[in-house]
Amino acid sequence: MRMLLSSAQLAEGIERLAAEVGGDTSEKPLTVIGVLTGSIMVVADLIRRLEGPVQLNMVWASSYRGTATSPGRLDLRLDLLPDLAGHDVLVVDDIFDSGRTMQALMEELRQRGAARVRSLVLLRKQGRAEVAMEPDFVGFDIPDAFVVGYGLDFDGLWRHLPYLAALDDDDIARHASAAAGAGG
Ligand code: IMP
Ligand code: MG
Repeated sequence: MRMLLSSAQLAEGIERLAAEVGGDTSEKPLTVIGVLTGSIMVVADLIRRLEGPVQLNMVWASSYRGTATSPGRLDLRLDLLPDLAGHDVLVVDDIFDSGRTMQALMEELRQRGAARVRSLVLLRKQGRAEVAMEPDFVGFDIPDAFVVGYGLDFDGLWRHLPYLAALDDDDIARHASAAAGAGG
């Protein structure tokens, strides 16, 4: 595992993102929608830098990776959301990889009648997008490696790291074979 972004670099990125979001406000309160579980750190750090009024809601999304590092079927759970008709929404996720999670969420929130839906991601992986959209706000462009820490996991682990680290192929292979040996 090697460090890609230190906690100081991440903090600078969040500060920059908060300034960009703050520079384009509307009359309405901003409804921040965080995507569980990976966005918890970004959301917590970002909203403390936004000058209100801000509302916070969370949704859950998973693309069933497990010990694999490529996306599978997308599962969205939006049942915690209030009525969003007329809201100015900012969807916040940890990373834009294929882009399918963000695209599906934005589409769904528009259908629910939000007045404006914008997207913010801490990270965007180079050369991976499978959708036509680009996020409205991007913290850092990173190389095409599997990353963990600051909310992002590999098979449920490493979310707690205060920095962002890239896994080597060896790290992934070792973990996958240990998980297979343990019966999945
Ligand atoms: P997408 O739908 O392919 O853009 O994937 C976005 C989701 O996949 C993110 O919300 C993350 O949960 C997960 N993801 C994608 N790449 C990584 C990674 O490198 N590390 C950890 N999670 C990732
Ligand atoms: Mg996620």
